[in-house]
Amino acid sequence: MTLDRLVIRRPDDWHVHLRDGAMLKAVLPFTARQFGRAIIMPNLKPPATHAADAAAYRARILAALPEGVRFTPLMTAYLTDGTDAEDLARGFEDGVFTAAKLYPANATTNSAHGVTSLDRIAPVLERMAEIGMPLLIHGEVTEQSVDIFDREAVFIDTILSPLLDRHPTLRVVLEHVTTADAVAFVRAHAASGRIGATITAHHLLINRSHIFQGGIRPHLYCLPIAKRETHRLALVEAATSGEAPFFLGTDTAPHTVTAKEAACGCAGCFTAANALELYAEAFEDAGRLDQLEAFASLNGPRFYGLPPSEERVALERRPTVVPDVVLVSEGDAVLPFRSGETLHWSFAGLV
Ligand code: NCD
Ligand code: ZN
Repeated sequence: MTLDRLVIRRPDDWHVHLRDGAMLKAVLPFTARQFGRAIIMPNLKPPATHAADAAAYRARILAALPEGVRFTPLMTAYLTDGTDAEDLARGFEDGVFTAAKLYPANATTNSAHGVTSLDRIAPVLERMAEIGMPLLIHGEVTEQSVDIFDREAVFIDTILSPLLDRHPTLRVVLEHVTTADAVAFVRAHAASGRIGATITAHHLLINRSHIFQGGIRPHLYCLPIAKRETHRLALVEAATSGEAPFFLGTDTAPHTVTAKEAACGCAGCFTAANALELYAEAFEDAGRLDQLEAFASLNGPRFYGLPPSEERVALERRPTVVPDVVLVSEGDAVLPFRSGETLHWSFAGLV
């Protein structure tokens, strides 16, 4: 029997780039229509490093919400070499910050102010461990000498593993995992309950060959970059396993068409337009639609110590056409992932 309608608790997105200004206004409605809560990435220009920055950013997000939409942005602090442990802890205890984000300096978009060495922020990490504030990690080394497809695996061996040993009670989310190595590492530490991993829809759907299918496809370029098929299969297996550490984080990361289709195009896939439909497709392909709710709506809140949503949403098996473009302002647009293509599932809203 095939299932034609799926009702699940309203999901949350544990990794989102909403940007600011006109871009925020253009992309927020997509995330807010499907997800009840989202972890908002702080890599603005300039980055949101202090609680006051995050509180002001949260107010701009709430002001940009369409009428009548219920959505809670959960804010993060952008860690730098200069982050003050007390300031950060106060932001967490006041409820402004839900977590702090570690970008190794220059690992990805707007990460130039990121952390240059973990030793420098050791006191900050100790304080976070004490108060139970999660550390969200962009897990890639930045050395040009390390092959781009190996940067996550090398990060796990040389940085993440020693970090967990050094801070045995620190709670960590390895963001947007892309390798079988990451899946194995997270599983090996799962019993401690202190490690989680987000998985994007696009990493469940594409491998690195898709980026070069028939020519170079800048809209499939993101960081960490998609890996070979064996890794994609490991991610699908982990996401659909129902296991507690794996949860939904789209890493939807909009850039304008001009910024993507350039001699040096920006990294990021914009999946928010149809995020849940994309995940449903990946779960159905794996024959595991029954595990979508655990991944999308239960495991994330459990890791963050929040209740699961009391709202419910429906997905229906009928075609959805992904928008060709999303207009940002006159002359500026974002191209959604799978732009113009037909997906098998449709988001039917709150029920
Ligand atoms: C993100 C962005 O554009 O902000 N890009 C991406 O490819 N994922 C940054 C990030 O999360 O690495
Ligand atoms: Zn991201």
